[in-house]
Amino acid sequence: MQDRYFYAPREGHGLKHNPIASIVGPRPIGWISSMSEDGSLNLAPYSFFGIFNYAPPIVAFASAGIKDTLRNAIRRGEFVVNVVTESLAQAMNLSSSSIVGSEFELTQLGSAPSTRIATPRVEASPVSLECQVLEDFPLRDHQHEPVGSHLLLAEVIGVSIDRSLIVEGVFSWGQTRTVVRAGGAADYHWIGADNLLRLRRPD
Ligand SMILES: Cc1cc2nc3c(=O)[nH]c(=O)nc-3n(C[C@H](O)[C@H](O)[C@H](O)COP(=O)(O)O)c2cc1C
Repeated sequence: MQDRYFYAPREGHGLKHNPIASIVGPRPIGWISSMSEDGSLNLAPYSFFGIFNYAPPIVAFASAGIKDTLRNAIRRGEFVVNVVTESLAQAMNLSSSSIVGSEFELTQLGSAPSTRIATPRVEASPVSLECQVLEDFPLRDHQHEPVGSHLLLAEVIGVSIDRSLIVEGVFSWGQTRTVVRAGGAADYHWIGADNLLRLRRPD
């Protein structure tokens, strides 16, 4: 018989660190730039983040509580998702601090104009997605009680890629050294070309 550890999340996990998010992982990080009504810039990482449709591309992130990113995105109807690479990991982490003022200033990152929306992107990030908000879903549990988190769905209306990452017409993900959130309280990974496993779909 297998020796398995079981827990019911509502009764606690009994471990040193909640494993649930790392089990569904590693998780991509949506590093989200947004703009408040008065035009001040905001930047924060969201790893409850993913893409859910190809055409048109639809992405979503979840905010645990009402945070500035969610507020700004809903009020302005837009935000930018910036890809976090290895060299930007420290700045990404710093940008998660709850400060008064702009995380662009805190991290000393430059911003660059987006193409289709007013919210700027992170200049040093090689890939950014310009997003237009579709719907805000307050999340509920199985008893229909609000849990306080919000899932925000958005359509990607502009994609901006550093040209050096397009190799023979293909976006070269392995070259980006994109950082993903892994286990425990502080672990991240990046995946390089040496970790490539190529599996073509069956017909
Ligand atoms: C790697 C990483 C991933 C995070 N993912 C989320 C997330 O998915 N949802 C969330 O509410 N907070 C998440 N946080 C915490 C927010 O980044 C943090 O609360 C931040 O201060 C929110 O900023 P804002 O109020 O400017 O939006 C994450 C932090 C880190 C470092």
